[in-house]
Amino acid sequence: MNFRFPLIEKLPPYVFAVTSQMKMEARRRGEDIIDFGMGNPDLPTPEPIVEKLVEAARNPKNHRYSMSKGIPNLRLEISKWYKRRYNAEIDPETEAIATIGSKEGLSHMILALVEPGDRVIVPTPSYPIHLFAATIAGCELIKINVLEGADSILDQLYKLEYSPSQQPKILVLSFPHNPTTICVTKEFFEKVVALAKDRGWLVIHDLAYADLVFDGYKAPSIFEVEGAKDIAVETFSMSKSYSMAGWRVGFVCGNQQVVAALTRLKSYLDYGMFQPIQIASIIALRDCDDIVPEITAVYQKRRDVLCKGLNSVGWEITPPLGTMFVWAKIPEKYRQMGSLEFAKQLIAKAKVAVSPGIGFGQEGDEYVRFALIENEERTRQAIQGIKSFFNE
Ligand SMILES: Cc1ncc(COP(=O)(O)O)c(C=O)c1O
Repeated sequence: MNFRFPLIEKLPPYVFAVTSQMKMEARRRGEDIIDFGMGNPDLPTPEPIVEKLVEAARNPKNHRYSMSKGIPNLRLEISKWYKRRYNAEIDPETEAIATIGSKEGLSHMILALVEPGDRVIVPTPSYPIHLFAATIAGCELIKINVLEGADSILDQLYKLEYSPSQQPKILVLSFPHNPTTICVTKEFFEKVVALAKDRGWLVIHDLAYADLVFDGYKAPSIFEVEGAKDIAVETFSMSKSYSMAGWRVGFVCGNQQVVAALTRLKSYLDYGMFQPIQIASIIALRDCDDIVPEITAVYQKRRDVLCKGLNSVGWEITPPLGTMFVWAKIPEKYRQMGSLEFAKQLIAKAKVAVSPGIGFGQEGDEYVRFALIENEERTRQAIQGIKSFFNE
């Protein structure tokens, strides 16, 4: 029998698998590859959060099925987090839902909201699930180029002309942006909210890098804009701010209709996260405001070492204001070969692994992305490798 799975055929294998494979082979040969590939935080989860997990795991009451939408106290804590940080009102009962990481929340939310054929606007290059959640749900993608920044994005959005019956249903945004590190201001969201209301779009904003911001920049929440909840939801992730990537905790907050739709779909699909993880997440949101800046400071120092180092070997980089990435335009001499070939050469000749920009969409092919997951010493070592490669 030869079965056909048309949905799976629409999902190409991750481009990153090619460079990952090369990296693993080099490591098997005993080579020390410095790995800036995947945005997988390397810092340990803060101790109070781990301690709470252990304590809660010992209580048999927490061994049962939990609540799919998240326990009430966890939703209450995210609502307080929004109030404290952004002066935004989120009703924990009707406007907040916990998800199994924000990736799960994003993909199931899109599935819950659309019918096959609906149009979804996504800026590219993009974090792959922003594109593929809509593809999985059978939507038509409308791609907006994000590379030139906020004004250009708005310009492209204003220029989208569809009749009322053909209007896109959803606009997906995410700032600070992975992979391009582009950051925006509250004014950007004011314009987006006004435009979305005018056109009847629902806005999904992914705020995964809320805390990984540098040099005094503060990343706005879309809910700082008056009336945004009428048309928007925002996702937040515990993975980066609290180094909890493996725990799989995220949230979707905002528009009640959307939160209700996702709650309904998830009630069919899962029983919620392991309760001790939810209880420990309350500690993170409630008691760890002092620890988050320490995590951010580690990324900032790595950013500085990497950017200074790259500039010193002639690779011109402007340090980003947010995210855990450096989005680097491939030096002119090598740009022609494309990002996959350049990334392969970096592994082979500099012993440095990065993500090829094409993995985030065709528009990313003149770039590679460094994830700031290696310490300062290894980052310096990587610069030496890149220097030797450039001097060949
Ligand atoms: C923009 C963006 N959103 C969401 C995620 C995933 O977050 P989570 O670990 O909560 O699923 C990532 C991870 O790299 C990301 O870059």
